[in-house]
Amino acid sequence: MGVYKVRNHFFGTKTHSVIKKYSLSPVTAVAHSNIALIKYWGKRSVEYNLPAVGSISLTLDALHTKTTLQFGETLKEDQLILNDKEATVPALKRVSNFLDMAAGSSDRPKAKIISENNFPTGAGLASSASGFAALALAAGKGLGQSLSDEALSRLARMGSGSAARSIYAGFSEMQLGAKDDGSEDFAIPLHDENYWDVRLLVAVTSDEKKDLSSTEGMMRTAETAPYYGRWVSSHPNDMREMKKAIAEKDFEKTGELTEHSCFKMHGLAMAAKPPILYWNAATTETIHRVWILRKNGIPAYVTIDAGPQVKILCLPEFVEDVEDALSNIDGVRSVIEAKPGPGAYIMETVNETII
Ligand code: DP6
Repeated sequence: MGVYKVRNHFFGTKTHSVIKKYSLSPVTAVAHSNIALIKYWGKRSVEYNLPAVGSISLTLDALHTKTTLQFGETLKEDQLILNDKEATVPALKRVSNFLDMAAGSSDRPKAKIISENNFPTGAGLASSASGFAALALAAGKGLGQSLSDEALSRLARMGSGSAARSIYAGFSEMQLGAKDDGSEDFAIPLHDENYWDVRLLVAVTSDEKKDLSSTEGMMRTAETAPYYGRWVSSHPNDMREMKKAIAEKDFEKTGELTEHSCFKMHGLAMAAKPPILYWNAATTETIHRVWILRKNGIPAYVTIDAGPQVKILCLPEFVEDVEDALSNIDGVRSVIEAKPGPGAYIMETVNETII
C-alpha cells in the first residue's frame, strides 16, 4: 500500500487535498471491444473528450483486451508493453495522461502496464474501446477507488469515447450530456449479452494500423465537412429509432439503421477536406457481396468504423451463408464470428508481480 495526494479530482471539480491509498499489487482487468450500430463521430470538447452525438453499440465476446497494471514506489516513469512490445511514445503519453486523470493528479505513483489484444490493434477493430475500458477498471482498482459503472464509463470515455460503452455487456448507449464538464457523458446499459442472439461477423481486410486516428478524423470532419451540422442535428432521431428497433427485436429495422448510420458517417468523412476514406478495395467488394445476399433474401447488414474492416450483422441461422459469400473475396484475410459479449471485469485471481 502507498499513498498519493489528490488536489483536483475528476472533471474539473475542485476538492480539498486528500490523501489516497493505492495498491502495490498487480491488478488485471478484461474488457471486450464494442462496435457502434449508431456511430459516434465528432466531439463537442476535445479537452474533456465529450462526444458531439450519442451512440449505440454491441459489446462483442470474441474481441478483448487484457490489461495488467501495477503501481511501483520506485518507478520513475510509466511503462507500457502493448502486445509484447514496448509501446510507441504517443501511445505511452496517452496512457500516462489517462492515469493522471484517473488519479486526479499528475503527481501520482507511476505504473507498469502490460496490455494484450486478441486482435489487430488500431485497425478499426475498436482496440481503444476495449483498451481504455480495461485500463479504467485496472487503474480505478489500483488507485484504491471504488467506482460505480457510471464513473468507470465516464473515466473510460476520457481515454476514448467508444471505451465508455465497453464497460457494459451486450447493447449499450453512450448518452450525450448537456453540461460542459462531462459529468453527464457516460454510457448506460440497454440489454445484456443474453437479450438477443445476433451475430457480428468481422471481415478482416487489413492488419495494418490506420493512417488517420479516429480523433484526427473527427476533428478534420467537424472543421471541414459541409454537412457536419446536419449529422449532429439528425442524430437524436437515429438514436431513438435504434433503441425502439432493438427493444422490439426488429432485426430488419436494426440492420437498416445500422447501415444508415455507417454510411452517413463515412459519407460525411469523405466530404472532409482533404477527404477521409478508411476503406480499401476489399471493403467495397464486401459491401456489395452483402447487398447481393440481401437481394437473395438473407438479412445481413454492414457497418464499418475508422478502418477497412467490414462488420456484418446477421442472425445465427445465416452465419454460414454470410461466411460463404465472404470466402472468395480477394483481400478478405479472415472472418471473426462474434456474439454479444460480457461487460468489463477485474480478474480476481492472485497475479504475479510485473515490476
Ligand atoms: C468510428 O472512440 O476511437 O468507431 O474518442 O477520439 O478516442 P476517440 O475516438 P474513438 O472513435 C470511435 C469512432 C467509431 C464509431 C464508434 O465507435 O462509435
